[in-house]
Amino acid sequence: MDQCLGLMSQLTSTSLSGDKSRLTKGIILAGGAGTRLDPITRVACKQLLPVYDKPMIYYPLSVLMLGDIRDILIISTPKDLPKFSELLGDGSQLGIGIKYAVQDEPRGLAEALIIGEDFLLEDNCCLILGDNIFHGNLDFFRAALHENTGATIFAKEVRDPERFGVVELDAGGKVLSIEEKPASPKSPYAIPGLYIFDHSAPARARALTPSGRGELEIADLITSYFDDGSLEAKTLSRGVTWLDTGTPDSLLEAANYIGTVQKQNAFQVSCIEEIAYERGFIDANALAGLAERHPNREYADYLRLRSGC
Ligand code: TTP
Repeated sequence: MDQCLGLMSQLTSTSLSGDKSRLTKGIILAGGAGTRLDPITRVACKQLLPVYDKPMIYYPLSVLMLGDIRDILIISTPKDLPKFSELLGDGSQLGIGIKYAVQDEPRGLAEALIIGEDFLLEDNCCLILGDNIFHGNLDFFRAALHENTGATIFAKEVRDPERFGVVELDAGGKVLSIEEKPASPKSPYAIPGLYIFDHSAPARARALTPSGRGELEIADLITSYFDDGSLEAKTLSRGVTWLDTGTPDSLLEAANYIGTVQKQNAFQVSCIEEIAYERGFIDANALAGLAERHPNREYADYLRLRSGC
C-alpha cells in the first residue's frame, strides 16, 4: 500500500519533448472579456467557472492531454492568470509542463500565436479556446496532429452557423471559403475553437492587421494558410460533441450534458488526473498519491479506484 501513496519521481523537461520535427505544443487561450456572461464575469473568470463539477479549463486541457501534448501555455488576463497557476501549478503533478503568459487586453485569438512565440520556439502549435469542450472519440484529433502540414481546422455541422466562424467545403471536403460570423452563412459548418498550426503561425499572426473590431482575427490567420493552399479542414463526426460555453444558456447546457454523461456511466469526463495516468504521463502510484490530496471523498475514491491501488 505504501508504494501506492508516493508521487511519481520528478519528470525532467527533456522527457516532455519527443521528436523535434513532430513536437506540437499546446496553447489554451483563457482571457477575453466574457461580456456575454456579465455580470458573473465582473468578478469571476469565465474559464474557471464550473461546468458541472470541474473548472471549465479542465475540458480544453483534457483535449490537449488526450492528444499527448505535454508542453502547454495558458494565456489569460493579468487579473486571472494567478488563479490558473494556483489551480494547475507547473503541471508536474500530471506529468506535463504548464507555463503562463499574459494578454493585457483582448486583442483577438490570433494574438495568442504572437504571445506564445517564445514558448513555441518554431514548434507546431495546437491552439484551443478555454471555453470549448469536446467529448467523444478524439481519434480524429490525434490523427490530425500527426498529419498536419500547414494548418488544420475542424468543421462541425450546426444549426446556427451564423454565431461562429464558418467554413465552406466542396463535396470532397476541400475548403472553398472562410467567413467570420457571416449574416448569411454559405455552409452549416462552424469552425470549433481548436486549431493546429505549423511553425509559421507566429510570423503569419504578426503580419495580420486588426479587424474593424480591433482584434487580430483567427479567421484571418486561417485564411493566410488557405491562400497558400496549406489549409486542411476535417469534418467532425456525429460521435464527437462540441460545446461552446460562452453564454448563460450554453454554459447551463454544457453542465447538464457533462452531469448526465457522468451519472449514466461509471467514468468521469475530463478528469485530468485520470487522463494523465491513462496516457502514461504518471504511474499508478502517482495517481493514488494525487487522490490523497483531494478533500472531496468521491473524487479521491474515483482516482484511487482508477489507479488500482
Ligand atoms: P470569445 O467567446 O469570442 O470572447 P470572450 O470570452 O471575451 O466573450 P464575449 O464574446 O462574451 O465577450 O472568446 C473565445 C475564447 O477566447 C474565450 O476562452 C476567451 C478567449 N479570448 C482571449 O483569451 N483573448 C481574446 O482576445 C479573445 C477575443 C478571446
